[in-house]
Amino acid sequence: MEGKLSSAAKKLTSSPIQELSHLAQRCNAINLAEGFPDFPAPPHIKNAAVAAINSDFNQYRHVQGICDHLAKTAKEMHGLDINPLTDIAICCGQTEAFAAAVFATIDRGDEVILFDPSFETYEGCITIAGGVPVFVALDPPQWTLAPSKFLRSFTQRTKAVVLNSPQNPTGKVFSKDELEIMAGACRSKNCLAITDEVYEHITYDNEKHISLASFPGMQERTIITSSLSKTFGVTGWRVGWAIAPTVIASAIRNIHVKMTDSAPAPFQEAALTALKSPPEYFESMRRDYESKRDYIIELLAGAGFKIQFKPQGSFFLFAELPDNCSLSDVEFIKKLILKAGVVAVPGQGFFHTNNLSSNEDSIISCSYQKRYIRFAFCKSGATLAAVSKNLGKILDTRGHLLLH
Ligand SMILES: Cc1ncc(COP(=O)(O)O)c(C=O)c1O
Repeated sequence: MEGKLSSAAKKLTSSPIQELSHLAQRCNAINLAEGFPDFPAPPHIKNAAVAAINSDFNQYRHVQGICDHLAKTAKEMHGLDINPLTDIAICCGQTEAFAAAVFATIDRGDEVILFDPSFETYEGCITIAGGVPVFVALDPPQWTLAPSKFLRSFTQRTKAVVLNSPQNPTGKVFSKDELEIMAGACRSKNCLAITDEVYEHITYDNEKHISLASFPGMQERTIITSSLSKTFGVTGWRVGWAIAPTVIASAIRNIHVKMTDSAPAPFQEAALTALKSPPEYFESMRRDYESKRDYIIELLAGAGFKIQFKPQGSFFLFAELPDNCSLSDVEFIKKLILKAGVVAVPGQGFFHTNNLSSNEDSIISCSYQKRYIRFAFCKSGATLAAVSKNLGKILDTRGHLLLH
């Protein structure tokens, strides 16, 4: 039967890391692997969703109010002039918005620049479209972008750069200088940018999210994708959007209609209520995640993890295994599940550079790729306290992890 599969399907196999998920399920491990909250969504938006169902918003639907509101906030936050009637496509989460953006712009053989490490789904979409992902390694431990490495990765066939900031898995918020370099390169090479801004409202300390589209000459070449999922803790509601120059937004809308027709009607109604939440909602959500970040850093640093980079945004901590731990990231997670009943994600799934030809950069980057663990800290206080208790079971008398 495999012969019947398309070449795209054959390329998208499930990862060995999924085996760890099964093990975690069998052991009933506390889940710090997945990037969604285990606490309730805000009551005001749940009530809006219930009210929408009770009002019989049950059919295919486009809630124009979402576009109107997004255009207004894009102006307030980033100074962008967006036509809400033509420049926004509502999709089923950022995931569909991103896929539609790729299918709308990427042809067979087009190269698309991505950063390494990065969120896993981009590569798959680009590959399905026949595009060629080109990874540029960010330099640990601060995950800095080396301009020369980035600029070297452009060729005649480069069509787009993908940027996720604040970033999954590292928690990096790309600096204004780094964004300036990206914008300059996109302009001079006449490339598009596709941004994933799902963590736009989750930044810490003095960091602020800046959209790449806000740099001179960038709005006309940037597709912004984002969603309700992370800001409101409703990843299952599947409401997201793409904001793009009119012609591209129209193409994305056409693709979206062919793939899914419309995002869930009642949740679009609730999305409007969510997006109109008062500023206090966004500030208290941000502060809650910041205190969870500080808690998990203290917990894991205390257990011997090397935390050289404090997340500046998103809700992930990308922690390096202790120097004296000889296990790989996958081996470590297996033991963490079995001995402490906690599961997180081995970092290697976020790295891709070693798939490229063995140039100097990729050889250097390989050495650290199996040393990181991604912990999602978007969990309740009770869950984080349970993790702390369970980790206590595998600490030696000096308080360091005992996993050998
Ligand atoms: C960087 C990033 N983008 C997109 C998504 C998925 O967003 P959505 O639920 O809107 O499809 C995730 C989920 O983990 C993510 O981490």
